[in-house]
Amino acid sequence: MSTLAINGGQKTREKSFTGWPLWDDGEKNSLINVLESGKWGCLHGDQVTNFEKEFASMHDLSVGVAVASCDAGLRIAYKAIGIKPGDEAIVPAYTFIASAVPAIDCGAKIKFADVLPGTYNIDPASLEEQITEKTKLIIAVHFAGLPARMEEINRIAEKHGIAVIEDAAQAWGSKRYGKYVGNFSPFAPFSFQSSKNITSGEGGIILVRNPEDEDKIRSMANNGRRKEAQWYEHFGQAGNYRLTEFQGAILRNQLKRYPQQLDTREKGAAFLRENLSLIEGITPLERPGDVQASSNHIFIFKYDKSHFGGISKDKFLSALQAEGIPALTGYVLPLYKQPAMADQVTGGMPDMPVSEKACKEEAVWLRHSLLLDSEEDLADIGIAIKKIQDNIKELN
Ligand SMILES: Cc1ncc(COP(=O)(O)O)c(C=O)c1O
Repeated sequence: MSTLAINGGQKTREKSFTGWPLWDDGEKNSLINVLESGKWGCLHGDQVTNFEKEFASMHDLSVGVAVASCDAGLRIAYKAIGIKPGDEAIVPAYTFIASAVPAIDCGAKIKFADVLPGTYNIDPASLEEQITEKTKLIIAVHFAGLPARMEEINRIAEKHGIAVIEDAAQAWGSKRYGKYVGNFSPFAPFSFQSSKNITSGEGGIILVRNPEDEDKIRSMANNGRRKEAQWYEHFGQAGNYRLTEFQGAILRNQLKRYPQQLDTREKGAAFLRENLSLIEGITPLERPGDVQASSNHIFIFKYDKSHFGGISKDKFLSALQAEGIPALTGYVLPLYKQPAMADQVTGGMPDMPVSEKACKEEAVWLRHSLLLDSEEDLADIGIAIKKIQDNIKELN
């Protein structure tokens, strides 16, 4: 008789964890109000404008420019910094492709830095090794919502005269060294795509640290228009990245709920860190002491197969999923090994051991929404992992 669910045994957990997105009558009523107002675009209504102010204020800033996606926000930010052909931009090797592709669009080249084994955020030492006289930009991704080591990154950037952009796609309301993300660089794009902790299906925002940059960024999101000029006057070769009022209305409702959810996720993540650390071979990512808030967009633990009879991460994940735990493998390749990056690694394939190991052997991702569940629900994750460990022979 088999015990593990993957072999036909009983599942650890039959019940689903909290799904995503969440909404209530607030979203429903606001959508109807926008519909009936006839003001569907952000140039006509005040939903997006109000959301921009509310979101910026939540990060102790005054200016946010809503855009169609974080990808769009990053493209605008690279251009606003002035990245041009011949320049180099450094990105972490363990990130989503959108952090890097705008460099190619600007005619620049991408250089990759490894990440820290404790947090999977960009490693300042690896970053500094990649700097050449062509380096013009560092992309500091606040991976999984945990702010990167911005004090060291900004010190390095200043020393070499390089600009920094925070890729805050996953880091709504995250805080380190007493400051919210968005306060460590001139521009910080965030994502509101479907999987994100605040979502309107698609969408994004660029937080702008210096209010004097607002007009430039607004123009870059709005076909190169200027505030006081005619509708058909264009001062920059820019696209239309505007949001709809429907998205603005949803985002305002999502934002109202967010502080409470952030708090619940923080508690859930703290519980899981402690609970899963009790299992040999399972190491949750670290929570540095100088971090005051994390969005906990992804809860990640490191899997060590030597405590699981040598079975691969993929096989472990299949067994865990069969137990009713929706764990994910995350990024399957370091960014430099993605087929799309082939023309960026012409000087030889980098070898970044932490990113390699995270993808291939180690990183297991859990979505933010399950951190909204009770400790009793979350305890099932450890119970399922322990069950697999105790019955590992069934997988060999
Ligand atoms: C680190 C990072 N940067 C950028 C993006 C792009 O966001 P969007 O899907 O809104 O374009 C994502 C999306 O998952 C991301 O995780």
